[in-house]
Amino acid sequence: ARIRRYKWDVKYEFKSPDCYKKLVIIINGRSPGPSILAQQSDVVVVEVTNGLVTENLAIHWHGIRQIGSPWSDGTEGVTQCPIFPGDTFTYRFVVDRPGTYLYHAHYGMQRAAGLYGSIQVSLPDGMAEPFAYDYDKSIILNDWYHKSTYEQAAGLSSIPFGWVGEPQSLLIQGRGKFNCSKLASPTLDPTACNATSSECLPYVLTVIPGKTYRLRISSMTALSALSFQIEGHNMTIVEADGHYVEPVVAQNLFIYSGETYSVLIKIDQEPSRNYWIMTNIVSRNATATTPPGLRVPPTGPPAGPIWNDVAPRLAQSLAIKARQGYIHTPPPKSDRAIVFLNTQNKIDGYFHWSVNNVSFTLPHTPYLIALKENLHHVFDQSPPPDRLRDFTNYDIYRVANNTNATSSNAIYRLKFNTTVDIILQNANTLTANTSETHPWHLHGHDFWVLGYGTGKFDADNDPKKYNLVNPIKKNTVAVHPYGWTALRFVADNPGVWVFHCHIEPHLYMGMGVVFEEGVERVGKLPSEIMGCGETKGFKRP
Ligand code: C2O
Ligand code: CU
Repeated sequence: ARIRRYKWDVKYEFKSPDCYKKLVIIINGRSPGPSILAQQSDVVVVEVTNGLVTENLAIHWHGIRQIGSPWSDGTEGVTQCPIFPGDTFTYRFVVDRPGTYLYHAHYGMQRAAGLYGSIQVSLPDGMAEPFAYDYDKSIILNDWYHKSTYEQAAGLSSIPFGWVGEPQSLLIQGRGKFNCSKLASPTLDPTACNATSSECLPYVLTVIPGKTYRLRISSMTALSALSFQIEGHNMTIVEADGHYVEPVVAQNLFIYSGETYSVLIKIDQEPSRNYWIMTNIVSRNATATTPPGLRVPPTGPPAGPIWNDVAPRLAQSLAIKARQGYIHTPPPKSDRAIVFLNTQNKIDGYFHWSVNNVSFTLPHTPYLIALKENLHHVFDQSPPPDRLRDFTNYDIYRVANNTNATSSNAIYRLKFNTTVDIILQNANTLTANTSETHPWHLHGHDFWVLGYGTGKFDADNDPKKYNLVNPIKKNTVAVHPYGWTALRFVADNPGVWVFHCHIEPHLYMGMGVVFEEGVERVGKLPSEIMGCGETKGFKRP
């Protein structure tokens, strides 16, 4: 195994990824940041300098389990203090599995300001993937807002409530195209929105006829669920969140924030013309769409899927199974089953998202340090509920009678090495006849996806239908509108791990929980992660 060293300077700079100029967080001058390329069992060392001047920072390695390095998970308030302006922090972790992963900021709503990138881990020498391809490309999809993350965050925590709304653009590998003539208030600054800026040239993939391309498609959206397709070409889905899957041929890929897929594309169409690489928003009624290319294909963009049709999305979720020969079967039974009811609520008139009527807030002293150093008073010690007290009578199809929730920084403590089932139950929001899609992401683990269902989870009968034969393993999974998703994982990674909706404003509004497991087995914490809250004195100068 080798050591892969990176030195990153993180700062704000004016950029025009969709032709509209705004402050963007860049790493070594770029957004998306540099790709991390490593081989299985390498050690990745990233030395991050926070040059944001007036803003803290933390970077999460999404999909990397951090076995033996829970303090390198990069979740501010959970596993570390933030990196203060001017400070340098070193993340050090092993990439223990091959596959496609991501990294992104994990402080406030910073991810949406452009701090994200891709991690690609190759197989050890002499080992081959179970599929063949000629070229390997990574494409990160994102949605893009013109308002700063500060304005967005302030709106979310105000009365009256200011929702972030739908994005102005969709970005393919950091590039989109906003129609400058649509600017709400015209500006005299000719550089404010510049349709001819080279930064917003469309993403172009130049391909060789007859070859097969592996495209690593991932989503870093703040809000949007997406469909991705290449005009006239089918794709074969072969990898999901770093695990091989039974090949599924699809015309379009539905992808939710925090998910990564590999698809194979055979370049077998008429080579004298161009084809659209398309992404569309699904699950919400939004207008942003694929930027038109430079040399526009002779045909208009193919129609995307109907935004509010859940059926094809659920069908794709159900179709993806672990690949024969690579199946890792889950333990047949769980030791604990937790039902997480996802609801939109109000607390003192403010809008929140909650899980079992508890809206999550972060403590000022990170949990990992609090637990290791026995600082019991820094967060709520009473355990949050394993299910809503009156879950049996809860009507998921209606706005609740009492929409109030409470906020708390209490955590779930899991017995080390036990098997835990999580049932994520979706419900109606505060708006009648509305239920959203939530991509849930677990840090520190991969989980098996045992099943998806429509309607309310039936604890007596639905578990009998769980797929225990060839379920996929993932780190991010969608909960479809008015549906449920059941997961299983083994609590075998000592540390403190957050589990949350990957929609940036939803997490900000409290849609998450924290699991602790085997914290007594965690080795000595590096003093670098300290320096905030009650840990100020713990940091050696
Ligand atoms: Cu990619 Cu906690 O998230
Ligand atoms: Cu959500």
